[in-house]
Formats: sequence, structure tokens, C-alpha cells
Amino acid sequence: MTFRLKFVTLVLGTLIIGGCGVDKAQFHEEEVDHAAMDHDMMENEHMSHDEVQALNNSTGENALIIPMMLKANQEENVTYTVRAQQGSTEIFDGIQTNTYGYNGSMLGPMLRLEKGETVKIKTINELEEDTTFHWHGLEVAGEADGGPHSVLAPGEEKILEFEVTQEAATLWFHPHPIGKTAEQVYYGLAGLIYIEDDNSKNLGLPSDYGKNDFPLIFQDRTFDDKKQLNYQAVMNSDGTIGDTLLINGTVNPKLAVKQEKVRLRLLNGSNARNYTFKLNSGDSFVQVATDGGFLNKPVMLNEVTLTPSERAEIIVDFSQINAKDLALTNEEGAILLPFEVLDGEGTTDEAQEKMNDFAVTAEEKALPVTKKIELFGMMEHVTINGKKFDPNRIDFTQQQGMTEVWEIYNKPDMMGGMIHPFHIHGTQFKILSRNGQEPPENEQGWKDSFAIAPDETVKIAVQFKHKGVYMFHCHILEHEENGMMGQVQVE
Ligand code: C2O
Ligand code: CU
Ligand code: CU
Repeated sequence: MTFRLKFVTLVLGTLIIGGCGVDKAQFHEEEVDHAAMDHDMMENEHMSHDEVQALNNSTGENALIIPMMLKANQEENVTYTVRAQQGSTEIFDGIQTNTYGYNGSMLGPMLRLEKGETVKIKTINELEEDTTFHWHGLEVAGEADGGPHSVLAPGEEKILEFEVTQEAATLWFHPHPIGKTAEQVYYGLAGLIYIEDDNSKNLGLPSDYGKNDFPLIFQDRTFDDKKQLNYQAVMNSDGTIGDTLLINGTVNPKLAVKQEKVRLRLLNGSNARNYTFKLNSGDSFVQVATDGGFLNKPVMLNEVTLTPSERAEIIVDFSQINAKDLALTNEEGAILLPFEVLDGEGTTDEAQEKMNDFAVTAEEKALPVTKKIELFGMMEHVTINGKKFDPNRIDFTQQQGMTEVWEIYNKPDMMGGMIHPFHIHGTQFKILSRNGQEPPENEQGWKDSFAIAPDETVKIAVQFKHKGVYMFHCHILEHEENGMMGQVQVE
């Protein structure tokens, strides 16, 4: 049915445009040639976004890799040292795949930070190309944010220092150099940041790292017949996807758990793929945290959707589920992570019902919209407010500490349009409304990224605690590379 409808649109579209010989070289950066865009969409009809390549099922033959927790650096006068490196990794038995990683050949360690602590991180670029170290979700000054302006050339290093002022959350870090972000992430540059605070330690949630508290970094990849990653060969300007899922860099992963409550910190670290996570048994779970902190109370769900860069912490009670062949699946039923439920009960503390005091105030609800953002287009033609990213242009300014309401609109195109994950650097914000309605319960918490569907309008209350220039962009990494990014200067 969907296909037929699309076919009709396709034919009509071709008739209307009728051999438009648009010269792409004539594109002016600030203008989008809609005819050319429609033309490209015709030719790429097979890439239509509701027909995303399926993921292979995990065979469960490999135990899930748990990223190591980075030890504080004792020798030097810094808390942590993080090196961007290249190397090779045995993802498949007996085969070395060329990859990138932080302090290792693939992905990175987990950095555990404490609210209130002052952290010094030494970053070192050991790659043969430029990179940056961006701390996604961290509320730090623009200088420390690691956006595209903070390039480290090969061999360069930089120490950054900041105070951790935000509450407990699962954040992450990844590179952000112009033109290379998508590729460097694809080859393996991504790591975790956990912020802990008094609240997170007293909630009674599972918090034994790698025992009952697991990070799950979801990334889909395409391996060639030599089991190598070749970004240029598989790159899709509308978002690179693959048929092979890696979780924490593990292919065909399996997770052994006890019969107890287990905390899964889900991170969509993919370039472009969206996931709707569910249990194949149909059992429910609770979501306890969003991108930037705990929800006020656990929200019971049967599924949770994450677009690129979003996080959700969920608690699955394996003492209550009796299903055989239990697994985490996606919306299509692809087996992402089979669970092996071991005999014997674990210890499960009674968790607090009240976890946070997140609230949207009456003042925030009454604020007028002062910034408007229109997301539009696909492939090379993506824009924000009709413009492509220009590192020398400041799109907005905002006062430090002032809350403003940003209204984001996803303008449909003739193919209907697609979901964009919208992200702002250096802040955790509040979703005020989606199409005028209160957001779902599991979005009533701190967010730094959210999905916006075609023709949807989302209002958010945004405050920056620090000064600097920050990016806002679509987190489909190829859209970001294609210019779906702008800058806000906080003064
Ligand atoms: Cu995950 Cu510009 O960031
Ligand atoms: Cu970011
Ligand atoms: Cu996008």
C-alpha cells in the first residue's frame, strides 16, 4: 500500500518536474533549489526512509563487551587523559578490522564524573587527521565543548578544565570536526560519561557497573567482504545505516543477567538509524532517566524509541520475566541483544518512587517563542531556516542564564519528509510541548536531543549556564555534515 502510494507520487512528480536539467553547481549556499531536491528524491526513491535496511539478528555468540571505567590519572595533574587513536580490533573471530577509538582501538572508556567536582581532562589527538573532543550533553563553557571550532591537529593536545554542575546523567563524547564527524564516529570514536550525585547514589537503583548496571551503545555498521568498515563506500548522504548491529562494539552480543532488576543505559550512537526497543516477550520495563537526568518517577513502558544521540535508562526486572529466549528487539523484531538469565536471584534494593523534582514552571509555560527553527530537506539539501552551516555566521544570540523558548518545526517535503533528531550543545533543556500537547511522560525530564516528526512543532525551554558558541543541529551525522547545523552565541 505504502509502496503504491509512493509510486503514484513518483510518477506524478516526474511528470511535473519533467526532465529538469538542474545544474547542482549553481547552488547558492543560502538558497535551496527545491526542484533539484525533488529531482534527487525521485532518483533516490529506493532510499525512502520508511524502507530502512533491516538489521540482522544477533546470534548471541559473543559476550557483551563492557567499556572499561577510566581510572583517574595519577601521574599528571589531570583527572583523565583521553587519546583519540587508530588501531585495529578483532570484532569478528580471527579478523582484524581497522577502527578508531579513545584510549584503545575502538569506542572509548567510561568517564565517571561527580557533580560538584572540578575535572581536568587532557585530550590528545593521535590520529593522522584533525579531530575534536565534544562532550555531548555536558553543560560547560563553549571553549570546553569541543565543537567544530576546537580542532586539534594530529599530535596536538589540550587540557580542559570545568566544574561538573549538572545532575546525575548518562552522557557521551564523540568527535565533531567539520566534514569528518560522521566518518570518525563510524570508525569507532565514541565514549561514555556518567555523572553521579548524592541523589543517584541514594535511589536504590542497580548501580554496580558491568554487573547490574550496563551501558548499551547501539551502532549499526556495514562490513565489507574482508570485514572492514569502508565509510566512503557505504556513505549515504541521508544517513548512513548498516545491516550489522554492534553493541559496545560487540557483534552478535549476548548479555548474561541474574534474576534481579537490571539497569540498561541505552545510547543510540548510530549515525542515522532509529530504534524502538522492546522485549520480545512483550513484558514491560520502566524508564528512569532521560538524556540529562532522572525522571520524577519511573515510567512504565512496553517500548522506547531513541533517535541518534538520545539516551534512556531503563530497569528490566529479570526476576519477574519467565520467557524463554528473552531478547531486546527493535520495532521489526530483529534480535538486538539476547539475554541469558542465570539461575539464582540477585539482590534488589527497593527503589525510591520519587527520583527527581523536574518541573516546567508557570513562568516557562508563559514565555513567548523567541527563537524559531525550521528544519527542512533531505540528503545534500538539508537546511535550518533555509540556510546551511557557516562556521563564520552566528545564527542566534542568547543571554547566559536566561530561559528562552525555542520553537522547532520540521517542514515536510513532497515525499512527506523524515524524522530529524534535533540537538543543542552545552545545555539540558525542557520539552514544553509537541504540537501544542504536553510531551509524553518519558520526555518530562532533561533532554539535549529529541526526535521531531515531519510537520511537527516542538517547543523547548532552553537555558545556557555558561558562555560561548554552541552548535545546534540534526544528529543524523550526514545531515549535520551537509549543513543542517547552526550556532548560538551565549553572552
Ligand atoms: Cu552529539 Cu553536536 O553532538
Ligand atoms: Cu552535542
Ligand atoms: Cu536530519
